Amino acid sequence: MNNSANQESTRRSFLAKLSLWIGGLAAGGSVFAVVRSLIPNVLYEPSKKVKIGTLDFIPEGVTFFKDAKTFVSKHSSGGKTKIHAMSAICTHLGCIVQHTESEESKGGIKDKSSVGFSCACHGSQFTIDGDVVKGPAPEPLPWFAVSISPDDGQLVVDTSRVVEKQKALLVLKSKHYNVRKV
Ligand code: FES
Repeated sequence: MNNSANQESTRRSFLAKLSLWIGGLAAGGSVFAVVRSLIPNVLYEPSKKVKIGTLDFIPEGVTFFKDAKTFVSKHSSGGKTKIHAMSAICTHLGCIVQHTESEESKGGIKDKSSVGFSCACHGSQFTIDGDVVKGPAPEPLPWFAVSISPDDGQLVVDTSRVVEKQKALLVLKSKHYNVRKV
């Protein structure tokens, strides 16, 4: 009799502990769900607007800016500077293309149809303006909007804004940075 009372007491104690554990787990789960619901589902991506430096800092010719994955072309003459930015991401499968000016253009012969950029992954080639010379790339390299930051005068490439080639071009009067879009 005493033995069976002891067993009953142990069983009750076990059941009481078990229900406490289950209750604790349920309460913990509810608290976690409430706390999790207060945290917004936001994916923090890097900004698509990339500052690349002031006009003086950017070299003449074609320069690769790694952060923006963009080639920036700068050409100055007669007190004016023309700037444009073009994606360096191959339109085939996304490799970074290389600036590979042809021998003719290195020698000063400007032929818009000759190769300006090549992709080492599958052999696509593009003109200096990004048009496809040889596939498999299906599309030209897009041009991005370029502007000047009012805060610090740095040029800003907006890789989220693809623009028509002629609208992507900035013409700056070197001394005063007067911007004129053409
Ligand atoms: S990724 Fe450039 S040719 Fe395939």
